[in-house]
Formats: sequence, C-alpha cells, structure tokens
Amino acid sequence: MSHQTALPTPRVVEVIDTTPNQPWPQRVRLRQDERQPIGAQQVRIGMLAMTVLPADLLQMQQRYGVQPSLPYVPGHEGVAVVLETGAEVGDLQVGQRVMPLGAGGLWADERVVPRRSLLTLPAQGDALQQAMLAANPATAWVLLKHMGLAPGQWLLHNAANSAVGQCIRQLAEHLGIPLINIVRRPQAIPAGAGGHWLVDDGLDAQALRQQVVRITGTQPVGLALDALGGTATQSLAACLSESGRLVVYGLLSGQASQLGPHDLVFRGIEVRGFWLARWFGEAANRQASREVYPALLELARQGVLHMQVEQVYDLADVAQALAHAAQPHRRGKVLLRGLHAAVGQTAGTP
Ligand SMILES: NC(=O)c1ccc[n+]([C@@H]2O[C@H](COP(=O)([O-])OP(=O)(O)OC[C@H]3O[C@@H](n4cnc5c(N)ncnc54)[C@H](OP(=O)(O)O)[C@@H]3O)[C@@H](O)[C@H]2O)c1
Repeated sequence: MSHQTALPTPRVVEVIDTTPNQPWPQRVRLRQDERQPIGAQQVRIGMLAMTVLPADLLQMQQRYGVQPSLPYVPGHEGVAVVLETGAEVGDLQVGQRVMPLGAGGLWADERVVPRRSLLTLPAQGDALQQAMLAANPATAWVLLKHMGLAPGQWLLHNAANSAVGQCIRQLAEHLGIPLINIVRRPQAIPAGAGGHWLVDDGLDAQALRQQVVRITGTQPVGLALDALGGTATQSLAACLSESGRLVVYGLLSGQASQLGPHDLVFRGIEVRGFWLARWFGEAANRQASREVYPALLELARQGVLHMQVEQVYDLADVAQALAHAAQPHRRGKVLLRGLHAAVGQTAGTP
C-alpha cells in the first residue's frame, strides 16, 4: 500500500441539467470532492487528461445509449497516474500511468476505481494521445476488423476528419485496406494528405456514387461506415457494391438515417448499427475484445495512431470546453486537464 503526499483538494465536474437546448454553462458545475478511503482492491488515480467526446455531449442532452440519473460525474475516457493502491493491489506502483476502462465519471481530479478497470500504459508515452485511446481508436479497430470487410474490398467512410475517421485512415493504411475518405468541406482534407478524398454534403447520392466508381472502377466496395445519419446514410448505401454492408455508428447530423428501399430490396444492401460498449458486452466478442487494447497500445507505440488536438482546458473551465467541443470545424479534440497533469513532464503532457 502506498500513500500520497498532501495535495490540494480535488475537484469534480457534475452534470446537473440535461434539458435539450440548455446553454453549456448551465448543464455543469465544479465542486470540491472529498477524498474517500480506498478499498483493498481499489486504486486512487489522479487524472492527467480527459477527452470531451461526442458521447459526453449526447449524454448531457439525453441522447445517448445510457443516461445516469442527475447529478452525475461525466467523462468516458482519459489517462491517469496511480496515487494510492489498496492493500490487495500488488502489481501497480505510485506514479504509474494507467487508462481507466469502463469506469465512467472521469471528469475529476481524482477517482477511486477497481484495479481490474485499469490498463497500464508506458510512462514515456504522449499523455494526450493516451487520453484519447479508449473510445475512438477502439471503435475504428472493431469497425475495420470485425464488420465483415473482405480482403480486396474497398472501404468508404464519412466524417473522415473526425477522431474516429483519423484512426480509420491510419489503421486502413497500416492494414493495406483500400479506402475512400468523405468530408463535408474541402478545408477538412489535411494538407498534403495522400489517399482518396471526396467532398460531399449528403444531398446527391448518385453524384457521390459516380465519384466513387471513378476511383474504384470494377472493384467491390464492401463496407461503408456512417458517422452521420440523415441523408448521408443513403449516399453511402448508393456507393456500395451489391450485397455491401453499411454500418451506422454515429448520429452527428442529429437526423434519422434516410434510406430508400431500392438499395435494400434490389441491391441487397445490409444495414446494421454499431455501439462499441454493446460490442464489448456481447459474449461472442469476448476473445476479440481482449485483443483490442493490446493491439492499439502496440500501434500507438509504433506511431501508427495519432489524433489531432484542438485545445486543452483546465477542469475549472469545463463549460468553455464543452461549448468549444460542440462547435463545428475544429482541428481536433478538446480535452480537459486534471490537477495531476504536472506529473511526468513528457511530450504531450497536458
Ligand atoms: N458507436 C460507437 O461505439 C462510437 C464510438 C466512438 C465514436 N462514435 C461516434 O463517432 C462519431 C465521431 O466521433 P469523434 O469523436 O471522432 O468526432 P469528432 O472528432 O468530434 O469529429 C466530429 C466530425 O464530424 C463532422 N461533422 C459533424 N456534424 C456533421 C454533419 N452534420 N455532416 C458532416 N460532418 C459532420 C465534423 O466535421 P467538420 O470538421 O466539418 O465540423 C468532424 O469531422 C460521433 O458520432 C461519435 O458519437 C461512436
């Protein structure tokens, strides 16, 4: 068992109002948190950096797959250091970097979590990149590896400049998957980016299909990944080859997916939804799910995975961080910085 030195009182963010259309400052408050004693198999962690994800924003508007009752501490992903270990935790050292998985409630300076929810991380890694590893890279990994894409088939995806989109691109290049990236505005195409890029507003499915065919020729387009819903779903469906699969994994447009019967009935397009939390929970995916994070950590170590950062805010400025994260045309992720961010000064330490 280890003990921390005297530290300032930790803070915690609470969501107090999830009424749709409420201004961000009125949804959250910051309060002082009391340090609780920890159990034998628990670990006190000090948060370094936490991502503001679309999932966090959806949950604060009652639009997510799980809705905690109010007030709740938000935050699905982040990176932390070990501050104190319970009596039965023998394999973690104070100062070790860890990633809490499935713990939730991470927008805080400190959390007490079960040992089993922690994945150890290399201390010399870029803390901001580590903070962004749990949700979006894992989503990209599962979408590419486990949604039925066959060797030689083309892959299409929209919102290609999103964090998930960046990971899809990097993983597809690493795995040798032919890919077409779709964004809604030309400025979203990274300067000097290789590969195939199309700009689409989701309004003319046939025009998009013609552009796709110009790239793929007679080769099959087997899988399309939709982060948007609305008219974008139809656009992607029209671009798939017969019997292709469309996976809707995001609802960024805020609109219900539109899909005419032609592609479903006459062309045999198969549509399914995807939610990472659900996929991890399904018994059939038990073995495959154990392989996700070791694979991602290795790819991060090799430099295959790298996500763009827009800005890092202190926890005290959570309302501004939320407003910023909800804005379009960002260059990358908005993150929050916890009290313990000064620990381990390496590149990318928040
Ligand atoms: N199902 C799952 O398990 C799972 C897991 C992780 C993420 N997701 C979902 O994946 C999506 C991407 O997440 P992220 O964290 O990667 O997002 P992000 O980094 O915040 O990026 C958002 C992207 O969406 C684009 N966008 C927003 N609204 C749009 C619209 N109406 N039409 C076209 N493009 C639009 C933005 O383009 P501009 O730059 O042009 O504004 C930006 O590229 C979200 O829907 C998220 O909820 C799902």
